[in-house]
Amino acid sequence: MILTDTERAMRDGAEGPAVAAAMDLLVRYGEALDAEGLCEVRNVAGTTTQPSPAKARLVAEGGWDKAFSVINLDSDEDLEIPPMAVPTCQLQQGFGPDSVGTVPYPADFVALQSDAEVFYGRRGVSILATCTPYQVGNLPVRGEHCAWMESSAVVYANSVLGARTNCEGTASTGAASLTGRVPCWGNHHDRHRRGTHLVRVDTPVATFQDWGLLGYFVGDVVQEARPVVTGAHALPDLTDLKHFGAAAASSGGVEMYHVPGVTPEAPTVEAAFGGQPVPEAVVFGEAERRATYARLNDQGSSTDVDFVLLGCPHASLDQIRDAARALEGRRLHDGTELWIMAPRALAVVAERSGYTAVIEAAGAKVLTDSCPAMSRTAPPGTRVFATDSAKQAHYLPAILGIEAWFGTTAECVDAAVTGRWRGELR
Ligand code: F3S
Repeated sequence: MILTDTERAMRDGAEGPAVAAAMDLLVRYGEALDAEGLCEVRNVAGTTTQPSPAKARLVAEGGWDKAFSVINLDSDEDLEIPPMAVPTCQLQQGFGPDSVGTVPYPADFVALQSDAEVFYGRRGVSILATCTPYQVGNLPVRGEHCAWMESSAVVYANSVLGARTNCEGTASTGAASLTGRVPCWGNHHDRHRRGTHLVRVDTPVATFQDWGLLGYFVGDVVQEARPVVTGAHALPDLTDLKHFGAAAASSGGVEMYHVPGVTPEAPTVEAAFGGQPVPEAVVFGEAERRATYARLNDQGSSTDVDFVLLGCPHASLDQIRDAARALEGRRLHDGTELWIMAPRALAVVAERSGYTAVIEAAGAKVLTDSCPAMSRTAPPGTRVFATDSAKQAHYLPAILGIEAWFGTTAECVDAAVTGRWRGELR
């Protein structure tokens, strides 16, 4: 790999041993990827505060410096961790202290995470605590090189914002925070951002549910490639694109897509393919829509619903308001819980706007920081859950060994109020 003078100096210890270890890690990582060099980044989104048994052990042995050295820098030495060199935010993590008594999450993890927030906050990590940092102020500009983790955030950053990031890991984001560098390969290059597959929508796609179904279909078809979506879809909003990308990154590994006329690098279909020949279209028609819905719903047999989860990826303010409207004047079924996962900053606005009071009056909860999949946590005794998120329906049954139903937000709220799943595709 070709390093600049500054990068060589960092590697050789000019900025201290922790930065040297970070640069060494990035060089090893970049060489394994055949990257020609490093990109300068000024926006890192990682997960340093998320508790785990391994982290607890390391902290007990040598404090947070030790934990960061081993987990984020792949170093056996006890390095003193300096402030982050570039703006860095914490993505989703475990549940926080305000969830104690509400969510069955281990108290020792809550304490460990609170400790981590102090340590990393002092070193310049903004504790956004959400998988949707782009909803709460972290908005890289078009063309900006970033180092982000979290598949649903990465696909949003690349496709909707036009920023450039691969799906990084705990170590590479840790090293990027201390150096402002990340290996320059994959999505950082124009040639890896062009469309590879054309998907033609032949059935109306207009609702939040439709965009999730389309995303789940597209991810399955293209896997890790880059779809260009055209046809009979309405103009999506932030929430639709959030759902679409998260679904495509779950059934496949999509990190970049184009919607010509909507996403920034695709003013036209031709531009989305970068002037290369446009391939024959894969069709998403009514049959494909129904087959995708059936696939997402083949993990449920009992219609007795114990648990309903909204807000994956973390809910927008509109989604919280819509849930409040659907719950107004109603009461949850005895034995059924409804959790709405949201970024903490938006939960504050939801509370101030009166949405949370309506949600809580119905017996439901607005929760922050985490989600059932990330924290492996659900209400005790959950056997069957319902969600309006294709991503959560994809992952949670395997993670918690429970049944799943996928439907609209209104159907999910109905299930929470009646305790029964009555969803169907319209
Ligand atoms: Fe976010 Fe959890 Fe879904 S981290 S994307 S709410 S699986």
